[in-house]
Amino acid sequence: MKDISEFDVDGRRVLVRADLNVPLEGDVITDDGRIRASVPAIEELVGKGARVIVVTHLGRPKGQPNPKYSLAPVAKRLGELLGADVAFATDVIGDSAQAVVEALQGGQVALLENLRFEPGEESKDDAERAEFAARLAAFGDVYVGDGFGAVHRKHASVYDVPKLLPHAAGPLVLAEVTVLKKLTEDPPRPYVVVLGGAKVSDKLGVIGNLLTKVDRLLIGGGMAYTFLKAQGYEVGKSLLQEDQLDQVRGFLSEAAKRGVELVLPVDVLAATHFAEDAEYEVVDATAIPADREGLDIGPRTRELFAGRLADARTVFWNGPMGVFEFEAFSGGTRAVAEALIRSEAFTVVGGGDSAAAVRRLGLPEDGFSHISTGGGASLEYLEGKILPGLVALEE
Ligand code: 3PG
Ligand code: MG
Repeated sequence: MKDISEFDVDGRRVLVRADLNVPLEGDVITDDGRIRASVPAIEELVGKGARVIVVTHLGRPKGQPNPKYSLAPVAKRLGELLGADVAFATDVIGDSAQAVVEALQGGQVALLENLRFEPGEESKDDAERAEFAARLAAFGDVYVGDGFGAVHRKHASVYDVPKLLPHAAGPLVLAEVTVLKKLTEDPPRPYVVVLGGAKVSDKLGVIGNLLTKVDRLLIGGGMAYTFLKAQGYEVGKSLLQEDQLDQVRGFLSEAAKRGVELVLPVDVLAATHFAEDAEYEVVDATAIPADREGLDIGPRTRELFAGRLADARTVFWNGPMGVFEFEAFSGGTRAVAEALIRSEAFTVVGGGDSAAAVRRLGLPEDGFSHISTGGGASLEYLEGKILPGLVALEE
C-alpha cells in the first residue's frame, strides 16, 4: 500500500474516504473518537496544500436523504478539531457538492453529505456502484483511503473509487493494519481474547477462527447467555439466540479439543427488567431465576476474568461485558478495561462499542496499546476475511 508521502498533493483535489460514523443523540455527538482519529490524515494533506474533500457514511439511511443521518453536526465537530472552517455540502454529488468542491482552495477542507443518501454507494449491482463511483471520483485527482471502520464494506467509496484514481492508504488505515497484523502473525503468548456484546451471531466467524489461534477466550456480555444455555443452564429472560445453540455447542467442544481455555461468567447481575434503575441481585450464572435477565457479569466473574488476563502478553477485547450505558450495569465492562490497563500486555480494544465504553467510563485511552476505530472491520480482519477496502488500496 502506498502512503500519502508518495504523492505530490499541493494544490490538487484529494478525496479522503474517512469513517466518521459516530454515535449521535439527536444532533449531539456522544463519542467523537472516530472524528479525532481521522484528523491526522486531513491535517497532513492540508499542510501539504491539498484541497481536501472528505467523504463518509453515517448510520444506515438506506440510499435516501434523511435529516436524521445528516453529517452537519460532524462537519461542525471536524472544524472544531481542525481549528478551521469545513465547507459542508448538503448533498453528495449534486449542485451543492459541485459548488463546494469548485470553490475549494489549497489547504482547505470540505465534507460532502452522507454517502449512504445515494443508492449507488451500497448497491450490490456492480454497474450501479461504478456509476456512482465515477461521479465521486470526478471530484478528486487523488484518493486516500483512511476509513478503517468501513474497509470490510464493498461500497462504491471504499472499493470502486480507488480503482479510478491514483490512491494511497491514510495513516489511520496503516496504523490499524499494523496492529491487527501483529495479532494474526505470531502474537506473544498467552494470547487472550475477551468477547462481549449482544449478539453471538455477529461473532460466529471470528470465534471459530480465534479458537485456532488463542490460548484463552473469555466471554461476557449478552452473548454469554447463549453459551450458558448451550451448557444446559437456564438463563431466565436474558438475551438468548436459540438458533445459535448448535453452533455454540460446537465451539465448546472445539475449544475442549484444542485445549483452548473458554471462560464463561460464573455469576451475573440478574435484573427485574431492562432499565437503568431496575432492581437486581447477584446470582450464580447457573441459577438465573426464570423472571430475571442478566445485564452484567457479577463480581466473582470480574475477578475471574482479571485473573485470566493478568499474565497475558497479548489481549484483544471486543464488546462490552454488560449494559455499560446504565451506570448500575457498567461494572463488568469497567473491570475488564481496568484489567487491560493494568496489564503489561500488548492490548488492543476493537470495536465501536468497547472503544466508546472506554471513553464513556472516563478511562484513559493511553492505558491501551491501541484502540481500534473498526468494529466489524477489525473482527473481519481477525477472522481472516478479505477486506474489499484493503484490497482496493493494495492494487
Ligand atoms: C461501523 O460502525 O462499524 C462502520 O462505520 C461500518 O458501518 P456499517 O456497519 O453500517 O456498515
Ligand atoms: Mg497497559
